Amino acid sequence: MATTADPGTSGRTRARLAARTLRTDRWWLPPLVTTLGLATFVIYAGVRSFMRTGYWDSEHHYLTPFYSPCLSDSCVPGSAHFGTPIGELPGFIPLAFLSLPFLLGFRLTCYYYRKAYYRSIWLSPPACAVTEPHSRYTGETRLPLIVQNAHRYFFYAAFVITVINTYDAIVAFDGEQGFGIGLGNVILLVNVALLWCYTLSCHSCRHVVGGRLKHFSRNPVRYWIWTQVSKLNTRHMQFAWITLGTLVLTDLYVWLVSTDVIADLRFVN
Ligand code: FES
Repeated sequence: MATTADPGTSGRTRARLAARTLRTDRWWLPPLVTTLGLATFVIYAGVRSFMRTGYWDSEHHYLTPFYSPCLSDSCVPGSAHFGTPIGELPGFIPLAFLSLPFLLGFRLTCYYYRKAYYRSIWLSPPACAVTEPHSRYTGETRLPLIVQNAHRYFFYAAFVITVINTYDAIVAFDGEQGFGIGLGNVILLVNVALLWCYTLSCHSCRHVVGGRLKHFSRNPVRYWIWTQVSKLNTRHMQFAWITLGTLVLTDLYVWLVSTDVIADLRFVN
């Protein structure tokens, strides 16, 4: 029970302090690291998506996820696993223009990334007990943040794209000389396994498989799936960061191998 008029806890406004914060620790470090991490990925992915080189290794049939699915006549021969229903694309349109907006939307509206960039980039608030620069709070009730509520639909799209990435990883075992296994296959497989971990650990996925049920006991299969997804869900933040790293590593490896900068390490030819 509040017995004194403490403006910091029981008043209608915040405590009026001249200093922005009284914290003396390095509270700014986590937001800074988050910003640098996200910016590094966005710049790398942005540049690579427009390069149109080094995305397909014709010898080992490695396709980078940044160019999947490749559906236009502009794709190099062999890289279009699902045909080329789209004609030539001008250079300013990424070859994976159909999947990239959905993947971007999936990550941008992700509950974990929201927390990360609301704190680090939007500074709302940057840390506990640190004043935010914004005078008003409107939540996610109007544009542009109301789009966050579409996360479930981005999840559906991301699920389909992860299936496509899985297909890319599997057909890569059938290279120019037939069946073979190289380091590139291992990297593609690990990347896609981690993408599944990230996708299936999504909060929307957890709701899709186990939400709106009144009695788990009457739906044992969905209860089991929900239990497994819930276990993954506790690691969602880790998967969010790890997959940014594996996406870059996978793309980089395909880029270097396909441009003959390095040779693929072969285990089975
Ligand atoms: Fe993070 Fe859905 S992908 S909550």
